[in-house]
Amino acid sequence: MTITCSDRECHVFWAQVDASHSILWPLLDDGERERARGYKHTPDRARFVLGRGLAKLAVAQIADVEPESVRLTATCRHCGGPHGRPEVDTLDGRMRLSITHSGTRVGVAVTWDIECGLDIEQVALRGGGPPRNALSPTERTVLDAIPQDEQVGAFIRTWTRKEAVLKATGDGLMLSPADLTMSLPWQPARLDTWVNRPLPHTPVHLHDLDVGPHYRASLATLNVPVTVVEHDADICWLSEMTAPL
Ligand SMILES: CC(C)(COP(=O)(O)OP(=O)(O)OC[C@H]1O[C@@H](n2cnc3c(N)ncnc32)[C@H](O)[C@@H]1OP(=O)(O)O)[C@@H](O)C(=O)NCCC(=O)NCCS
Repeated sequence: MTITCSDRECHVFWAQVDASHSILWPLLDDGERERARGYKHTPDRARFVLGRGLAKLAVAQIADVEPESVRLTATCRHCGGPHGRPEVDTLDGRMRLSITHSGTRVGVAVTWDIECGLDIEQVALRGGGPPRNALSPTERTVLDAIPQDEQVGAFIRTWTRKEAVLKATGDGLMLSPADLTMSLPWQPARLDTWVNRPLPHTPVHLHDLDVGPHYRASLATLNVPVTVVEHDADICWLSEMTAPL
């Protein structure tokens, strides 16, 4: 099955971590296998393998190539090293990807050369309340005015928007998320202000994605507003892949 992705679309593939992630191991290259072996905790390894495998399956479906031939590359925006925002060069052009993991969920966003950032987070916090130092002064005031039992959900909503933007630019958490002020958690997703923002100031387009009550997810693209097309990869491929093996 080939998936058509137009140059104004972003396809987002969601999958659930379970034992079937090991079936994707043959798709990983040597560096990815080394990284996977480095994870001490099985759930972390499972999320990583699923993220990389899912990314390759997604690219293969859109670019109509074999998943085994897909190589994810990255160039760090800060040090130039081979890590950070993933991309794939194909005969038909460059594909941009964003991979995200949280809890039992893994997501991959794919575009034809539109910088994108995808983030999913479980609505849960380790330790005390929301880490206020991730919020701008305006966002802290908003959070304080929200009933306490709604604060975690509101914080996570704001957080996934920030991280989606920072992943789209390739900065990640090398920049302070507190420098970004997002729209109110219950309003449509928007980047309102960004102090100390490095150049270039490319337009940011944001979407909140519906991933059920226990998670929040956001997608950012730079320059180009996109139509988001979501896929449940558990049903599409992973079960199909397990069948013949
Ligand atoms: C990217 C980052 C925000 C992700 O945080 P997270 O919520 O824990 O993780 P997520 O599951 O949502 O995302 C992980 C994916 O983000 C991607 N990623 C890593 N760095 C990224 C960056 N700078 N920009 C965009 N995406 C990045 C990777 O594809 C990674 O998946 P992988 O483990 O398969 O390689 C955070 O880890 C970060 O800022 N890392 C980069 C820090 C950095 O640049 N250090 C090097 C300086 S030289």
